[in-house]
Amino acid sequence: MNKVLVTGGAGYIGSHTCIELLHSGVDVVVVDNLSNSNLKALERVESITGKSITFYEVDIRNVEEMDKVFVAHSFYAVIHFAGLKAVGESVAQPLKYFDNNIYGTQVLLQTMKKHEIFNLVFSSSATVYGEPASVPITEGFPLSAVNPYGRSKLVIEDMLRDLNVSDSRWNAILLRYFNPAGAHVSGLIGEDPQDIPNNLMPYISQVAVGKLEYLSVYGGDYDTHDGTGVRDYIHVVDLAKGHLCALEKLKSNPGVVPYNLGTGIGYSVLDMLAAFEQAAECKIPYQIVDRRAGDTAICYADVSLTKADLGWQAVLGIEEMTGDGWRWQSQNPKGYED
Ligand code: NAD
Ligand code: WQD
Repeated sequence: MNKVLVTGGAGYIGSHTCIELLHSGVDVVVVDNLSNSNLKALERVESITGKSITFYEVDIRNVEEMDKVFVAHSFYAVIHFAGLKAVGESVAQPLKYFDNNIYGTQVLLQTMKKHEIFNLVFSSSATVYGEPASVPITEGFPLSAVNPYGRSKLVIEDMLRDLNVSDSRWNAILLRYFNPAGAHVSGLIGEDPQDIPNNLMPYISQVAVGKLEYLSVYGGDYDTHDGTGVRDYIHVVDLAKGHLCALEKLKSNPGVVPYNLGTGIGYSVLDMLAAFEQAAECKIPYQIVDRRAGDTAICYADVSLTKADLGWQAVLGIEEMTGDGWRWQSQNPKGYED
């Protein structure tokens, strides 16, 4: 378990995971094309941990360059974050998502097979549950894609299951993240969207810091405790630690297994807004507007399987998510550009 390749390691969840890996003594090699990230994130990971990372600015679709990385290192496993994640963009440009996410993963898997590395931790998503019929959502719920981004995650999950059928040496832990939020407690790394954020938490932070005028709350008439959508927000540091548990699980040759990474608790948009106002000690203006197409009313995880099999559970709550998120945003109002 001493050397791990992290694709997309300069990104939001990847950089937080690198910290946890380095803290636990794992050697980290990162491949990232920096299409949605900044090298400063990894420099800050190094300064937080006092340890160094081997970095390659490489696109996972580049067969020759990927091969060179695997020739240069002997990996125990790959943690695969690299991918595009904007749902709306995926609807407008599906081929971009099929190429980057699906073809990119195919190249990664081919390179792993060539070098006989058969252990993978994959960043899947709660989006693979489509519009769930009920909550909490267990891993056994039916899977479906409601947009091309979600389809890319489902296809990759299927690819991994097919590989395991063809050769039982393949192991993959499919980590289905719910709604990542927050930042490292240092305030040095965090989420740094390149454009106007699509997701709630970075949007709220940018209103709080004065970059955006007000939050549009998508729908006030859902069948929830206050009419706004309910989600399972999970602190990114808890999420990052889940990857260490997944690496440990790979030692038992588990095959291809999905696990939910969430808290099992649902908060509404207005709950998150109120908690963020407390953390930032300011009022955050908002307007309730129409529902956003494709949104479901309530989504939260059943995490009992993850707890039983991986020995993982979230320990950080809404105050840490909003407090740490605000520390990052207020100390870095322009993200890594500052
Ligand atoms: P992110 O955009 O911050 O990180 C992804 C990283 O991958 C970026 O650094 C980007 O530059 C890199 N990348 C993208 N395409 C690449 C390519 N072809 N070659 C090399 N590097 C490439 O996103 P994140 O929030 O850290 O998400 C990480 C993973 O988790 C993604 O696969 C995403 O789909 C998944 N996920 C994210 C969320 C979320 O809400 N943040 C939820 C569920 C799943
Ligand atoms: C959360 C809640 C919105 C923005 C998405 C992807 C999913 C996964 C996580 C990658 C909802 C409301 C939001 C805003 C709002 N990503 N909202 N105003 O939609 O649960 O999940 O990110 O895998 O695949 O679909 O997250 O943060 O966009 O929305 O009112 O400006 O906040 O309606 O109720 P979502 P989100």
